[in-house]
Amino acid sequence: ASVHALTDEVPTPHRIQDRNRPQPPAPRTGFINTPDTDPDLPGNRAWGRAIAERMEHSTLGSELVEESWVATEDELDTIMSRGAKAAASWQALTADERAEILHRAGDVLERKRADLLEVMGSECGKTLDQGDPEVSEAIDFAHYYAELGRELQKTNGAEFVPSALTVVTPPWNFPVAIPAGSTLSALASGSAVVIKPAGPAARSGAVMVEALWEAGVPRDVLQFVQLGERELGTQFISHHLVERLILTGAYETAELFRSFRPDLPLLAETSGKNAVIVTPSADLDLAAKDVAYSAFGHAGQKCSAASLVILVGSVSTSKRFRNQLIDAVQSLHVGYPWDQRTQMGPIIEPASGKLLRGLTTLGDGENWVLKPTQLDSSGKLWSPGVRDNVERGSEYHTTEYFGPILGIMTAGTLDEAVDMVNEIDYGLTTGLHSLNPDEIKYWMNHIEAGNLYVNRGITGAIVQRQPFGGWKKSAIGAGTKAGGPNYLVGLGTWRDAPVEP
Ligand code: SER
Repeated sequence: ASVHALTDEVPTPHRIQDRNRPQPPAPRTGFINTPDTDPDLPGNRAWGRAIAERMEHSTLGSELVEESWVATEDELDTIMSRGAKAAASWQALTADERAEILHRAGDVLERKRADLLEVMGSECGKTLDQGDPEVSEAIDFAHYYAELGRELQKTNGAEFVPSALTVVTPPWNFPVAIPAGSTLSALASGSAVVIKPAGPAARSGAVMVEALWEAGVPRDVLQFVQLGERELGTQFISHHLVERLILTGAYETAELFRSFRPDLPLLAETSGKNAVIVTPSADLDLAAKDVAYSAFGHAGQKCSAASLVILVGSVSTSKRFRNQLIDAVQSLHVGYPWDQRTQMGPIIEPASGKLLRGLTTLGDGENWVLKPTQLDSSGKLWSPGVRDNVERGSEYHTTEYFGPILGIMTAGTLDEAVDMVNEIDYGLTTGLHSLNPDEIKYWMNHIEAGNLYVNRGITGAIVQRQPFGGWKKSAIGAGTKAGGPNYLVGLGTWRDAPVEP
């Protein structure tokens, strides 16, 4: 059943190029990033209001989620065999034919922008300002991977052999862009896909998958499943017909999945504990704004979020930066995304375990500058927390809490700050605020992380311009970056092309 009446009812947004979103230099593929919606245009405000009003009671995608529960092991076998069989017909298409379908998927996702924003807000607490760039990213993945799929076939001397069946297990924090990116990359490489969205993001995943079906991806080539029983997870991942797994989630989850079937090629984007260094040469106004945004956007529930800020030299001894940062964080409006004042949304699952400890417990010597407080009985709304005097080697220095807490550390010099970042086991995103070219160069050469950001926020990677992926314990598997030129290359195997007689 179609659940997409909304797209026809809300006014069409005006698309203009966002000046803050850098555009790529003329690329080989002719690829240009999709613009976000400019919320300041009057027509777009009405568009946003219409979506926000629907979020609270949205049921988009629920039919598919309810209908597609997998209950038994037998059904799992059927699903996997159907996918593996369908891969042959998908691979029988030319790369151009597949690319055409994937480009169309980008167009359908654009057409469903309002639906996607509605369901992401309703289900995963995404505010419009966080969700809109995420939809743009999903669209970018469609067009970019469509072109990369074409390139794969042009390679001389070696032949790319796609996997027949790829399983995709995305997270709930980017409920559209990450499932879309993983699925589209596998499809572009020539593989069939079975996707199992994260429980809290199932409806968002369903609306995204429906868009791809509508664009012409056959339903056997792309299957959407929910697992009726938790125990089926192990069988799902380790099914003998699965040839590849694309996972985004906690490091521990990736390790667990790997232990189920150690021989299975795995591409995993995992955890992060990301720091921004601020030196005395920085534009402190800009740094305060960027740190607050990177730490508390989507309530810090991003593997890319800033959870440490390291103040160097006089930035740490004077009160100026701390005061600016505290003011910026304190002024954030916390609420649900259907309240248009909201700048920081809810924690998706009520705070518990490690996150609850991070929100409530302090280590030796640490103190709260802003103490996180629970704002309602749901356990989901918390005010943002800032803790000071985080000590090198302490729990907060190295643990990912995945929520709205920021720790402040201090360093005498830039190289000391760099060492403090490199001591962390993860290496996903990291930032430097400095206007000194020598400092920037030193930092670029010594910092250990996948995504480096200078004088800007550290979340929101952009397809092709800033491919996304980590070092160290932030990635497992082939290690090529999502949204980058080599991502598809890692999704199959290579063999020498037969020599013509
Ligand atoms: N790609 C996202 C970001 O850059 C994280 O998954 O914030």
